[in-house]
Amino acid sequence: MRVLFTGGSGKAGKHVVPYLVAQGHRVLNFDRVPLGIDGVHDLLGDICDAGQVYSAMRTHAGGDEMDAGAAQLFDAVVHFAAVPRYGMVPDTETYRVNTVGTYNVIEAALKMGVRKVIVASSETTYGVCFSDGIVDPKVLPLDEDYDIDPMDSYGMSKKVNEVTARSFQRRFGADVYALRIGNVIEPHEYATVFPAAAADPGLRRRITFSYIDARDLGQIVDLCLKTDGLGFQVFNAVNDENSVPQPNSELLATYFPKVPLSRPVGERESLLSNRKIKEMLGFKEQHPWRKQGS
Ligand SMILES: NC(=O)c1ccc[n+]([C@@H]2O[C@H](COP(=O)([O-])OP(=O)(O)OC[C@H]3O[C@@H](n4cnc5c(N)ncnc54)[C@H](O)[C@@H]3O)[C@@H](O)[C@H]2O)c1
Repeated sequence: MRVLFTGGSGKAGKHVVPYLVAQGHRVLNFDRVPLGIDGVHDLLGDICDAGQVYSAMRTHAGGDEMDAGAAQLFDAVVHFAAVPRYGMVPDTETYRVNTVGTYNVIEAALKMGVRKVIVASSETTYGVCFSDGIVDPKVLPLDEDYDIDPMDSYGMSKKVNEVTARSFQRRFGADVYALRIGNVIEPHEYATVFPAAAADPGLRRRITFSYIDARDLGQIVDLCLKTDGLGFQVFNAVNDENSVPQPNSELLATYFPKVPLSRPVGERESLLSNRKIKEMLGFKEQHPWRKQGS
């Protein structure tokens, strides 16, 4: 597929974009800064400028496409560009960039006729990660039908983006999938993140101990591109197991003693559930942290 990818130069995108290219997709990266890898053209622009976003929807994905004539509409849009967490810029700016930018991308894609849009939402929508004070989830494991209620500007912006995505999907009938992405771990981070988490699992309480390998996130995006006809969907995007060696019986007793379980959980099973991507998309993780370096 020809894919317009926003935010491909960032932490997640620099692994997801090469994964998509390796699967045979043609990717154009729309970002404020270049990714700079062979075979992927960088179109520098701002998602908060609706004119630029509309313009980008019908663009050559590289110089080699110019000989074929008129620039074609993209087959799919993957939207990752964002302020990626709470506290990087003032709250108002986080909210503005994430909500306006996402509105622009989804509107332009669907009004121009794109039939598949995948947007990066976040685990922070569950309202635990960036909460003010120590907050318990209402129930565990966290799955997609949870009543998400973030209290911070970033999580709020991602919840609003899911509403935007759902509204546009209803109007245009295309496929719009929102990925509630967990804490993204790049290969070079394995040597530091997991030992630190093992020594002090409390460090990962706010993300309910979950994670997503950046390359496995690439697989999830590719599966979303390949799986048509699901309408509006929200998918948790995490690996199968918690990111700490302590079993769930110990983690739950220590960190979530008052939180009810909606169902029994395995001792290693991710408390941010990835059942839905396994059942509906066929996700099979390739990079479990226990096989480090894999
Ligand atoms: N990293 C994580 O652990 C994590 C977890 C959950 C969700 N997410 C979401 O996944 C997506 C990617 O996250 P990331 O960690 O790669 O973030 P990142 O900050 O590393 O990358 C985001 C990219 O978006 C670009 N960008 C920002 N504002 C832009 C604008 N106005 N116009 C054009 N480009 C712009 C940046 O230049 C950057 O390359 C984001 O939507 C983020 O909210 C990330």
